[in-house]
Amino acid sequence: MLPFKSLISSHQLTPDTVATIFESAHKMQTAIESKGRVGSLENAIVALLFFEPSSRTMLSFQSAAQRLNAGTIFAQNATSTSFEKGESLEDLIRIVAGYSDIIVMRHAQPGSAQMAADCSDVPFINAGDGGNEHPTQALIDAFTIEKHIGRLDNLKIVFGFDSLQSRSIHSLTRLLSQYPNNEFSFMGPSELAPPPAMISELEAAGVRCTQIKGLPDKLDYDVVYVNRLQEERFADKSIFDKHRRFYRLSYDMVAATQALILDPLPRIDEIDVTADDLPNAVYFQQASYGVPVRMALLSLMLSN
Ligand code: CP
Repeated sequence: MLPFKSLISSHQLTPDTVATIFESAHKMQTAIESKGRVGSLENAIVALLFFEPSSRTMLSFQSAAQRLNAGTIFAQNATSTSFEKGESLEDLIRIVAGYSDIIVMRHAQPGSAQMAADCSDVPFINAGDGGNEHPTQALIDAFTIEKHIGRLDNLKIVFGFDSLQSRSIHSLTRLLSQYPNNEFSFMGPSELAPPPAMISELEAAGVRCTQIKGLPDKLDYDVVYVNRLQEERFADKSIFDKHRRFYRLSYDMVAATQALILDPLPRIDEIDVTADDLPNAVYFQQASYGVPVRMALLSLMLSN
């Protein structure tokens, strides 16, 4: 059982809830490795509404639903729906709730996830609402950290390079701020520093936060979490062009640290491909955990 009907924000992902989801995700992972499918949702339909581009989130939710033997229905971009004729998001969600048992939605508008969940008679999952939140990515990131490091507390983590606009960074910091003794640094250009409200929120939760302008000389952390500069969210593209090539982890930087290197992907410029085979570069493994974690979430939310 989970203590919510819909998942909108990592605020909802308390340590107890995360533990429940991870216990199920480990079982899902074992089941995937041994027999491929866990036929627990034969009677369910999962609606996948992706009004912003996605590879990992959309395909891993689809894979998760199919491994649970659920059916899926899709809408993949706004122009192929009746949005094009002027239908509101609220009306669309009311309709889709009548066609499905759970709705997963990605949308470019911050706050659209809460708005949609408020109109939905069935459970709802935020698969990314603009630059605001991406709570299921945070679950995958935390699952990876726990698998590799064995804990979600007492961690020193550096985040880069677009803490202003990266919903993945917003959601993971919120999730990890609920565990004791974590310390976060934020590296990147000053124009892309975390929103002051986010720093205040993290500090109020007891997290020590520092900001690093530029790239640090040594990556002396437990985790280095990087995400691309979010090109589609820049009002002034010259800021993106100015910084995109500089903010990059080279092979030498990754090879010189013991830190776990994470990236929610897609990778654009932020990590040199030559670093991919280093043992601490686990971002492709991280992406693979999307299936068991999302299987666990679908299964638990539909059994609520
Ligand atoms: N990490 C992530 O959300 O990737 P996609 O945008 O490809 O779904």
